[in-house]
Parts: sequence; C-alpha cells; structure tokens
Amino acid sequence: MERRQHLPAQGSNGERPLAVVTGASSGFGMLTTLELARQGYLVVATMRDTANNRMLMQQAGDAELTGFIECMPLDVTDHGAIADTVNRIIDMYGQIDILVNNAGMAIGGCIEEIAMEDWEKQMDVNFFGMVAMTQAVLPFMRERRQGKVIQISSISGRLGLPGYGPYAASKFAVEGFSEALRLEMLPYGIHVVLVEPGAYKTSIWNKGFEYMEARVPAESPYSGFFNAILRYSKNTAEHADNPQEVARAVARIALSRYPRLRYTLGKGARAAIIGKSLLPWKWFERILLRELEK
Ligand SMILES: NC(=O)c1ccc[n+]([C@@H]2O[C@H](COP(=O)([O-])OP(=O)(O)OC[C@H]3O[C@@H](n4cnc5c(N)ncnc54)[C@H](OP(=O)(O)O)[C@@H]3O)[C@@H](O)[C@H]2O)c1
Repeated sequence: MERRQHLPAQGSNGERPLAVVTGASSGFGMLTTLELARQGYLVVATMRDTANNRMLMQQAGDAELTGFIECMPLDVTDHGAIADTVNRIIDMYGQIDILVNNAGMAIGGCIEEIAMEDWEKQMDVNFFGMVAMTQAVLPFMRERRQGKVIQISSISGRLGLPGYGPYAASKFAVEGFSEALRLEMLPYGIHVVLVEPGAYKTSIWNKGFEYMEARVPAESPYSGFFNAILRYSKNTAEHADNPQEVARAVARIALSRYPRLRYTLGKGARAAIIGKSLLPWKWFERILLRELEK
C-alpha cells in the first residue's frame, strides 16, 4: 500500500471531501463508512433500509463521528432511485470524490440446480447495481477531472470456486468491467480500483448459507459434494479475518494519490492467486478439490 503518497483528506474549499458507500448497514460497508469518516471524509452511507443504520450510528456516536455521516436509502437494483440519490447528493454537497461500490450478496449451490431467477438476482445486485451506480456518478467526477471508484470485488473475481458459480460470475464481471473502466477514465484523472478480499467475518456468509440450504433439492445428486462445500465454507467463515482490515485498506486507497488497479487482501487470497498463476491448472485443480474433500 502506498503509505508515502497519502494525502490529508481535503475538499476543494478546504471542506471535507465526499465519499459515497453502498450497502453500508453492515460488514465492510459499515466499517468503511466509519473509517472514511475517521480519515476526514464526509460520508453518505447508503443502505436499502435506513432503519438498519442502528449499529453504524451507534459506533459513529461512540467515535464522535455522527456529524460526518449521512444515511440515505438506496437499493442498488433500483436504477431510477440511483439517479435520484446521486442528484440529491450533488445538490446537497456539490461533488462526489469517492464512490465505494460495496453492496453485495452471495448465491451458491451447484450450477445445474440454481434457478435462473437466482442467477439474475445475483447479477442484479453485484454487477448491474454497481454498473448503474458507477454510471450515475461518473459525469460529476469527469467534469472535475478527479475521483476514485473503489469496487469491492473478491478473490472470487479471480478464481471460480465450486459451489459459488453465480457469485464468482458476478465478481468476474465486476473485474472485467473495472479493468476496462480504469483505462477509459485514467485520461480524466479518475482512478478505478479493485479490492479483492479473501474470507472476512461478516454477515454475508450466514446469509449465503441460509440461501443455499433453503434451495438445495431434497433428492439432489450433488448432495454429497454440496455438503462438503458447505462444511468447508462454514469452517472458512469461522476462521475468517477481521473485516476492519478491509475498511482500513479502502480508506488508504481513498487517500492514495495514485492507487493500483488491484488490492488483494488476506493471506489466503494472495496465496490462491499466486498458486493459480504459478502452477499448471491441472495441479492447481487437484489441490483445490483435495482441500474441499478434507
Ligand atoms: N465477507 C467476505 O468474506 C467477503 C469477501 C470478498 C468480498 N466480499 C464483498 O464485500 C461486499 C460487502 O459484503 P460484506 O461481507 O460486508 O457482507 P454484509 O455484511 O452482508 O454486507 C452486504 C451489504 O450489502 C447490502 N445489500 C445487499 N443487497 C443490496 C441491494 N440490493 N442494494 C443495496 N444494498 C444491498 C446489504 O444490505 P441489507 O442489510 O439490506 O441486506 C449489506 O449492507 C460484498 O460486495 C461482498 O461480495 C465479502
């Protein structure tokens, strides 16, 4: 991480620069909101239902950051509401310096058995929501020739794991979109950044397990494989890292003058990417499948 290049957060008028975070009611979104406010940003914390802001605002109160966080309702699958919300933010604050596309969910299961409507839901939240949000914010960043779009992708955007086909597909889409956008926007002084966390302890895991368990057919031919994946995932979730690490990394990226395209976070994620790039695929897949069978 480019520690030397960190700038004090300061807007054009000496006021706090403005950051927008999606999915800020829990997990990385909530912690990133707090960390950005701590680092000198005014943060618009968007969430599907602002009644779910209790935990965020309680922690903001404890850290004396309440005055630097504004909660707004936003479901990223509602594209009309995205345009209205971004316009409202611009009317209120005049600019958006940082967009953190964080809202997400994980749909798993065996590919043959996942209903089309679940594939669509996964893409709507993790990919199309992020596209719509980015499109709405870009004109304002482009006009000022500055800004950062920080995408919360995943190790699943670099490596498709069995049992998580829809999630991996959505995050691979985020990766391709962001690589292209990075190159389109660099001439305008806008940096697009991919954050690729491994496993961190947030509520996404349990929500995903509930979703998977509710949908697996009683007589599934994949039940043995599915249960092995579920067991492996539950064990991974239990030993996952502290999500504060991701929030701090996002704030460092926001403050960095010239951030890289990719930040892979967590020991397991970095090891997986090195393994995938160095080992022949045939060896790599054997190791992965053996791990799952343990
Ligand atoms: N935790 C990990 O191990 C991990 C690893 C790699 C990447 N990620 C990524 O990190 C991001 C945040 O996830 P998290 O781990 O912090 O889990 P989380 O605590 O479940 O947070 C997900 C957030 O997204 C919101 N959200 C879901 N659907 C939405 C929609 N349609 N519109 C707006 N917001 C919506 C959720 O809001 P509600 O409360 O309304 O559902 C929640 O605030 C996701 O993009 C995820 O893919 C997580």
